[in-house]
Amino acid sequence: MIPADAAAMEASLIAAAGADIRLPLFERFFAAFPERRASFISVDAASRRMTDETLDMMLGLAKGEGWVWPLVTELVFTHRSYGALPIAEYDAFIDMTVDELGKAAGTEWTVEAKSAWQRHADALKAMIRKARKEWKSAMPAGAPQLAE
Ligand code: HEM
Repeated sequence: MIPADAAAMEASLIAAAGADIRLPLFERFFAAFPERRASFISVDAASRRMTDETLDMMLGLAKGEGWVWPLVTELVFTHRSYGALPIAEYDAFIDMTVDELGKAAGTEWTVEAKSAWQRHADALKAMIRKARKEWKSAMPAGAPQLAE
């Protein structure tokens, strides 16, 4: 059985399917963090994957999927190549992703959907913090640089 949070989240994803939310999402992200644009070699390629994977991870958390944690640890480790990304940028990217989805979902952006996305956005933020901490203690020399 699909948990209630995941069902509400899937309904809003289906409602937003026709909208390419990565376009307004990345515009908004770069407006908030203009100095970060230069870190992207291909905004077109990265924006597809970053948007999809962020949504997937939150939905995976709502479904209790075991692959989310290893994927988050990998994400945190590979993102070290893009510089010392402040945790505030991860938080902002996740919040903006949920907000842009809400705009695109229209009438499917129900109270249930909004609070389900918010719950799993917060869980994802907590997991990213945990992964950063664990990499730092497991590999002090090679861990992602933490700009906190
Ligand atoms: C939950 C949050 C995030 C997820 C799931 C995510 C996921 C991804 C994925 C899947 C890629 C593509 C990697 C590849 O194709 O090799 C990527 C690339 C990238 N991400 Fe993220 N990302 C997240 C947050 C962030 C944040 C907050 C920043 C800060 C600016 C960031 C900066 C980048 C950069 C600079 C690239 C490389 C783009 C390029 O080479 O053109 N990401 N991300």
